[in-house]
Amino acid sequence: MKKRGFFLPASVSPRYKSSVLFDNRIAELRAELTRHNQLYYQDAKPEISDAEYDRLFRELEDLEKTNPDQHDPNSPTLRVGGVPLDSFEQRPHLLPMLSIDDLFAEDEVADFFKRLQKGLGLEKIPLTVEPKIDGVACSLVYRDGALDYALTRGDGTRGDDISQNVRTIRSIPLTLENAPPLLEVRGEIFMPSAGFAKLNEQREEDGLDAFANPRNATAGSLKSLDPKAVAARPLAFLAHGLGANEGTSMETEDDFRQLLTRFQIPRNSPIWHVDSLEGILSAIRELDVKRHDIAHGTDGAVVKVLDFAQRETLGFTSRAPRWAAAFKYPSEQKETLLRDITIQVGRTGVLTPVAELEPVFVSGSTVARATLHNQEEIERKDVRIGDTVIVEKAGEIIPSVVQVVLAKRPGDAQPYHLPSVLNHQCPSCHGPIEKADGFVAWRCVNFECPAQAVTSITHFAGRKALDIDGLGESVAIKLVESGLASSPLDLFTLSVDDLANLMLDPAKSADGLTKSKERRFGEKRATTLIKSLERARTGMPLSRWLFAMGISQIGDSSARELSRLHEKLSDLAGSAIVSDLADLPDFEELQKSKRKKENHPRLQQYKIDDKLGPVAAQNLRAFFQSEAGQVVLARLTELGIDPKSDNYAPDPGAASEGLTLVGKTFVITGSLSAPRPEYKKLIEANGGKVSGSVSSKTDFLLSGEGGGSKKTKAESLNVPVIDEEALQAMITSSK
Ligand code: IVH
Repeated sequence: MKKRGFFLPASVSPRYKSSVLFDNRIAELRAELTRHNQLYYQDAKPEISDAEYDRLFRELEDLEKTNPDQHDPNSPTLRVGGVPLDSFEQRPHLLPMLSIDDLFAEDEVADFFKRLQKGLGLEKIPLTVEPKIDGVACSLVYRDGALDYALTRGDGTRGDDISQNVRTIRSIPLTLENAPPLLEVRGEIFMPSAGFAKLNEQREEDGLDAFANPRNATAGSLKSLDPKAVAARPLAFLAHGLGANEGTSMETEDDFRQLLTRFQIPRNSPIWHVDSLEGILSAIRELDVKRHDIAHGTDGAVVKVLDFAQRETLGFTSRAPRWAAAFKYPSEQKETLLRDITIQVGRTGVLTPVAELEPVFVSGSTVARATLHNQEEIERKDVRIGDTVIVEKAGEIIPSVVQVVLAKRPGDAQPYHLPSVLNHQCPSCHGPIEKADGFVAWRCVNFECPAQAVTSITHFAGRKALDIDGLGESVAIKLVESGLASSPLDLFTLSVDDLANLMLDPAKSADGLTKSKERRFGEKRATTLIKSLERARTGMPLSRWLFAMGISQIGDSSARELSRLHEKLSDLAGSAIVSDLADLPDFEELQKSKRKKENHPRLQQYKIDDKLGPVAAQNLRAFFQSEAGQVVLARLTELGIDPKSDNYAPDPGAASEGLTLVGKTFVITGSLSAPRPEYKKLIEANGGKVSGSVSSKTDFLLSGEGGGSKKTKAESLNVPVIDEEALQAMITSSK
């Protein structure tokens, strides 16, 4: 491997055990990946390709798996998220995390400045003015140069420990070089505007409710107990204040800001340095213009005394410091005419109503369209075509219709009912549209809908689906554009010649500048692709096919459960199991109690796993009963395709007979004689479940040497702690 002059940060202390060589390599890889993260996320100057980064990452992942004693919570591998938690633990703040007083008008700013002058007995006071970030407050505690834990504000005295989630935020350094023994950095976790817009688009595509603003999206993300889900959310952090600290002497916030720069901790900007009321007011006005160009939502300006000694003199009230205040900008709202409502067909078939507006200038840009999200939203706000509406930018970013100005409603304003206006047809393909229970979105369910062609073909060919070599999104786009395929099943009619002559976009060169010529797909790749299609046709199991069909709510695990219950695809069309499951009454009740499925006269024998629920079954049944579904079945028959199950075992009694750990939940901790994933496999192979953290639902804690906080928690909850031998004994007990 190419050497890149890496360094070993002080915090990565080699802990030698069995293999000195591996130990060094683990430390080396951690330092190397940390450096590349920094180059990529902070400096925007990557030195290696994504592929090379992935290779190093996987090497470290593999080494960590085989050396569990080398676990380090600040390893770069945990950036993608560790094991889900049962709940957040609470911890006390080192110093209270206070709120901040709001100011709503310029005369309130003047009063605030007068209070400062009086409190300090000074005419001029060095102050800063900076954007108020619209996010969620977070405290990062670094001890001896490593991120120790991260807390939410909570009630100001205690916060939720969200360390696992925070570690997935790439721009937050996990280790600091030459750091003081204690440094608490306070700041805001937020979602940048572009990421927020993309996330909401995706949620609408998935038929989920959109987040109202980036703050809600951030708070919702951070509340997730599954760090992998958090890692997928586009979160970022900016520091804006100092908490507890030991071993450094800082006199002003500027000293603290220099420290942040040295540690490459991202910090809030721009900052105005002022010392008079006029200075504050002009900074506030300048920021009001600038803030629309900032890449994240800002809803105010924070004014702070710069000098720490002066802050101390001013002190605190019970809820907020006297040395700071936040000026809140009024959110700009404008009236405009709603000319029409159009429908956008998303890449997954979701039909989103869009308000077509008389263009109007709001919060820094012209707004001519605003999503109305879904039919429920239209009804809730009673939006009609021809209405005058008030628009604003949600979280200062996304245009939205706030409300109708009823006084200006014309007599002929038209109520809107999506399915009637569309005559129950997709505006793109005229296929059937449906709204599943529990979802807000209407969706086109036609597998062959051209608006969805690229998505459905890409998904169909994906690695977890039918794994068609060489068929990624760019090839799918070209196939659709050239008219060679407008749905996944069209792929089976392609010839090597058709494919070989397909013209692709010019390749990107390493420096990102495009080469000038288009490329032919070529015979070699065409042959490989056709071979993969043949393998899909004859060799891919039912579960892969079910997943590949992209039916709403049928993910890979529900597809697997469906294939356990059915021998072949054609059995699913009229399946009584699917029908019974779809008809289960009161889904919510079922979710709460899990009683009904288990008591159903016909379903109980199948012991259907929770990963296959009534909503998935309803979607599946709706699909096979729809005209589009019938066309798909007919085409499959025509093509001679009827995929077979590779895990058919409808009677689980037989399958789990002899499995000694069925119904038992384990948590694993400490260093064991084999890597933890091996024990996880062993437990699962014997019918047990493995969870990431100890709770009252845990049956056993499998603990090796050490065991740490999990062991303490297990003991406090009276969860039996067992060792490897005891586990082996349990497995072999009644076999
Ligand atoms: S300084 C003692 N600066 O707004 C509080 N806070 O509504 C001093 N916030 O709790 C806070 N941007 O979480 C400061 N540039 C900024 C900020 C900021 C957002 C948050 C902070 C605070 C909340 C109060």
